[in-house]
Amino acid sequence: MSLRLAVVKETREGETRVAIVPELVGKLTGLGYDVVVEPGAGAGALHDDEEYVAAGAQVAETPWDGADVVVSVNPVDASVVRRLPVGTATVSFLPVGAVPELVADLRDCGVTSFAMELVPRISRAQSMDALSSQALVAGYRCAVVAAGLLRRFFPLNMTSAGTVPPAEVVVLGAGVAGLQAIATAKRLGAVVKAYDVRAAAAEEIRSMGATAIDLELETLEGAGGYAREMTEDRAARQRELLTPYIAAADALITTAAVPGRRAPMLVTREMVEQMGPGSVVVDLAAESGGNVEGSVPGEVVRVGNAQVWGGANVPAQMPGPASRLYAQNVVNLVTLMTRASDDGTAAFAPDFDDEIVAGACVTHDGAIRHEPTRTAIEGEVPA
Ligand code: NAI
Repeated sequence: MSLRLAVVKETREGETRVAIVPELVGKLTGLGYDVVVEPGAGAGALHDDEEYVAAGAQVAETPWDGADVVVSVNPVDASVVRRLPVGTATVSFLPVGAVPELVADLRDCGVTSFAMELVPRISRAQSMDALSSQALVAGYRCAVVAAGLLRRFFPLNMTSAGTVPPAEVVVLGAGVAGLQAIATAKRLGAVVKAYDVRAAAAEEIRSMGATAIDLELETLEGAGGYAREMTEDRAARQRELLTPYIAAADALITTAAVPGRRAPMLVTREMVEQMGPGSVVVDLAAESGGNVEGSVPGEVVRVGNAQVWGGANVPAQMPGPASRLYAQNVVNLVTLMTRASDDGTAAFAPDFDDEIVAGACVTHDGAIRHEPTRTAIEGEVPA
């Protein structure tokens, strides 16, 4: 019997991405999967059902029936989870802290679930790192949005009618998204300054051709190359020292995050009010609490002179490339968990001794495997 992989239509409001694009169907059929796509699954990313069929997939109303693996961008709806046979696997983003009921359902239904955001960020897993691929799309988008909202040039223009100076852009947070925002703003010709709390970030900022802002504050390295949370004292000092940079900026782009926490509040309303006429603020972190006071996800609001744009599911604003990159991440993870069997057929056989598989696994065999989530949902095991 061959393997079956289902691609579901996303139901989250405003979601335009799809977990597998037609271009990558062949990789899955090559591994031994029958790929079954829910009607209209690719519509938001401009892939129609016929394209999937031409690529070798089938289209069916309830693709998860009989599926070995169900793939999606957002977690599969609870109504679908409850219809999955014991042992079915799901691969999707699964924000474990935000959806405890769904995790409990996955456990109780005997579903083996993998969360793309829990794939360990080790070199071997880079091709499966969906956090990075989607942050890259979001960072690019932020710079283009800032350029679009700003009613002036990003680049220097020297013309016979005089010289127009370039726009000054400040980027806060220089992780994957921030570095991509810096690179994009630089390519458009802006003068870019950036700040991040991690020591390693300064060199990365400079390698993009931007100026690393040095506030002479202690750096904040956490586990796994991530940032640590700031104390309120340090946060206040950082805000004070950043104020003149922000006041002088034509465009401010914020992308700062601390894993598992609300986004740090980096810029107060008073700081934005010091920006000049026509200035623009783009807050990528608006949905997770906001780096900028007053930003609203999915809206442009006025604070002082500035138009403040709040990001809401920003990768979904570029569904084609976001889906293509995400699909490649998913295919690479599914490939890792698929092995050829002795009889020439393939089997979905995740090796839980592999740190990528073990790290990404949330539920398996009726148990929650991701320990912090298990503790949060089931409590400590009595000694
Ligand atoms: P993220 O999305 O969690 O955070 C974005 C940025 O915000 C980070 O650079 C962080 O330092 C910064 N930040 C946090 N608090 C801040 C504050 N108060 N002020 C200014 N900036 C602040 O991080 P992301 O982009 O997912 O990755 C960050 C780092 O993780 C990378 O630069 C890299 O070192 C590491 N990484 C490693 C990978 C690998 O080895 N495969 C893949 C991706 C990231």
